Amino acid sequence: MTRLAVFGDLLDVTAPCPADADLDTPPPTVRWRPKHWLLIENGRIQAIQPDAPDASWPRDERPGRLILPGFIDTHVHAPQLDVIASYGTELLDWLNRYTFPAEKAWADPAVAAAGSTRFLDQLLAHGTTAALVFPTVHKCSVDALFGAAEARGMRLITGKCLMDRHAPDGLRDTVQEAERDSIDLIQRWHGQGRNAYAHTVRFAPTSSEAQLDMAGDLLAAHPGSYLQTHVAENRAEVEWVRQLFPSARSYLGVYERHRLLGPNSTLAHGIWLDENDRAALRSTGAVIAHSPTSNLFLGSGLFDWRGRAAEGVRLSIASDVGGGVSLSMQRTLAAAYQVAALQGQRLDAFTLLHAATAGNAESLNLGHEIGRLEPGLMADLCCWRWADEGSVLAHRLSIARSLHERLFAWLMLGDERLLEGVWVAGRPI
Ligand code: GUN
Ligand code: ZN
Repeated sequence: MTRLAVFGDLLDVTAPCPADADLDTPPPTVRWRPKHWLLIENGRIQAIQPDAPDASWPRDERPGRLILPGFIDTHVHAPQLDVIASYGTELLDWLNRYTFPAEKAWADPAVAAAGSTRFLDQLLAHGTTAALVFPTVHKCSVDALFGAAEARGMRLITGKCLMDRHAPDGLRDTVQEAERDSIDLIQRWHGQGRNAYAHTVRFAPTSSEAQLDMAGDLLAAHPGSYLQTHVAENRAEVEWVRQLFPSARSYLGVYERHRLLGPNSTLAHGIWLDENDRAALRSTGAVIAHSPTSNLFLGSGLFDWRGRAAEGVRLSIASDVGGGVSLSMQRTLAAAYQVAALQGQRLDAFTLLHAATAGNAESLNLGHEIGRLEPGLMADLCCWRWADEGSVLAHRLSIARSLHERLFAWLMLGDERLLEGVWVAGRPI
């Protein structure tokens, strides 16, 4: 039996705040437990208490530090650390000029292994302990990612990227090859430890109707497996899909008709959807992963978080690196605030923190495992400094009058440089 007692200022948020909430008097869904002990036994949270545990417990004391659930990233591309911050293009040009050439390199298992290690270590260095990840079309990229996640004890969801057309040589599969590789990978990795398989349709333009159909079959055939893709990110992309699938009701309708929408489906972006699309998302339980730094960087558009949430569409938040420009969830949440502000909406700090933790966990139907600080859940945690001495953030915090004011400033001004410790399944990294 392994045990650890972590001491610090515990914060987690179990639900978004209503738009009219009094933020200076947080609702009970905001659980601020300063100077508390979090007891971990065999990788799970066993108890949370103000009193120190008995002397038999090994201790890790972090006075004055913020202890949060590990962040969860619901849409991020492992091979795209090589193209993050590439200049001057919108989505379709960006894919052709930067992204596809970079992804070709992952055909080499050694490149995929080194890239996967780098990627997961960077996620952890940004306080992200679980993720839904795009690899490449190559089978070895999936082996590399799952293997590296297993070695770190991380919760990881990924699966071979499916793309059998409109991609350069070296990045295309065929329906038969893709099906065989997917089944192999599912048998090897799905449900092994904390790994789960995601059927990964890159986006409608890079899959034939036959391949989309095959993905629908795989999703139906493998309980607990996921589906990830992109949808309605950019206006030129939407127009291209209209031409490629002339009989489809809409871009989202392509996925709907191939049985790819369900409660385990996460679709990145979803900026340019109509009312029927939103109804289809609601009725199927499919999730839109809002990727604000990516949408700003690639000039894709402004996603209406408050509007979609009010309609009952399931939502999550994601970095979408390398279209997105940071793996940091603070940077992602700050961008989400700004995207909302550009539309006359506001996202409070509690709602933002909830999105990156419990909200993202629930979007993956993993709320029973990650995202909150609660007995029974896995001990995926991070310890953060509030600020560096002498920084603008330290000054701002020194005159803040409420928890909300402090947390909001921390999210807007903080980043991975404030991270002091990470535990994955109770194990210090
Ligand atoms: N649509 C299809 N592929 C991609 C990708 O790699 N990144 C983004 N942002 N959108 C996509
Ligand atoms: Zn993406």
